[in-house]
Amino acid sequence: MSDSKLENRRIVVGVTGSIAAYKACDIVRMLKKEGSDVKVVMTRNALKFVSSLTFETLSGNEVIKELFPENKTIKTRHISIAEWADVILIAPATANIIGKIASGIADDFLTTLVMASRAPVIIAPAMDYQMVQNPIYLDNCRKLEKSGYKFIPTEEGPLASGAMGPGRLADFNRILNEVTSILLGKDSLKGKKVLVSAGPTLEPIDPVRFISNHSSGKMGYAVAEAAFLRGADVTLVSGPVHLKHHFGVKRIDVTTAEEMNSEIVKRASESDILIMAAAVSDFRPEIKKEQKIKKEGEFTLKLRKNSDILLNVAKGGKPDIVVGFAMETENGEESALKKLREKGLDMICLNNLFDEGAGFGGETNLITIFYRDGKSEKLPLLQKWQVADKLLDRIENLL
Ligand code: CTP
Repeated sequence: MSDSKLENRRIVVGVTGSIAAYKACDIVRMLKKEGSDVKVVMTRNALKFVSSLTFETLSGNEVIKELFPENKTIKTRHISIAEWADVILIAPATANIIGKIASGIADDFLTTLVMASRAPVIIAPAMDYQMVQNPIYLDNCRKLEKSGYKFIPTEEGPLASGAMGPGRLADFNRILNEVTSILLGKDSLKGKKVLVSAGPTLEPIDPVRFISNHSSGKMGYAVAEAAFLRGADVTLVSGPVHLKHHFGVKRIDVTTAEEMNSEIVKRASESDILIMAAAVSDFRPEIKKEQKIKKEGEFTLKLRKNSDILLNVAKGGKPDIVVGFAMETENGEESALKKLREKGLDMICLNNLFDEGAGFGGETNLITIFYRDGKSEKLPLLQKWQVADKLLDRIENLL
């Protein structure tokens, strides 16, 4: 992110009562470093985690804690700040604040400000993993998303309760990225149709078993989100994964490679960019047994080759840019270059399963991009959303 992108932007940071409140200090510090004017609003519970003096020092502005403080003569600060703000970022946002906003409750400064403002509101939740999965919380998020509130999903990892799972406040670079793209109305891919595939495919053997792989879908989901943030019209064809897609992305769920093939092939000719991040199963059982297979005697499973989706796309109306992924365990460069050539790709992103930080399911990836003209570029170890961002920069250069 360049230093000047957030210069003189007026940003309200709402801090609510989560242990992740201390992380908001870094967010405020970074926003100030980028040249933004930051006003921090804290809820009563946030004050139990971090002192307002910390935010006052970091932001260089008075921290707002009360709707009607005794010492203020102007009683409509919520209106003036609502009009002042270019964007309102609530980070961390508790289930409580999300529930209150979704229900139209305005009983403190932050909720009243949100209700009064026409600025975009970005919500970065943080809570325990059980709360993230609570259906009432999820309903509230969906309701707010429909009304245009932007969510930055939580990340997986160790939580304050000692548990592991989703619920951690998103990486603060990701939060800054989202704030930037909303403020700048980043539209470098506006008018472009981007088709992304993600996740594994699952090939049934019988009603109980299947063949699949360890793909988590995180890389493809990050690409879809990054393309949406650049203004693209994004369709994500997803194999079975446990991920939440960005609300702006149109998602089509598939199970098998053949289903993915038909969804991709029928959309490819109308798309400008295709990014095949899915780990497509190369084979499927020749016959899917209608009943559960019993363990009596020997059992041989006969497999059939699935369609090669990228080869099929190359035969039909091809998008302007087609990008593949290759996860290899040996002879990576050789295999990636072969796939680039044979599948008619513009770029292929190679990662090695055995490289640290590049395996299945993690938050990071380590890739080398090979281009059609023979050039290649190794990216450092990055978060998957950063890899997605860099990849889209390269795609834009090719466009
Ligand atoms: N791919 C595809 N259709 C398939 C298999 C893979 O379109 N049936 C795409 C993947 O989404 C990826 C690229 O092709 O973008 C390379 O996938 P990979 O599984 O590495 O290559 P394969 O062609 O399947 O070759 P192999 O498994 O023999 O390495």
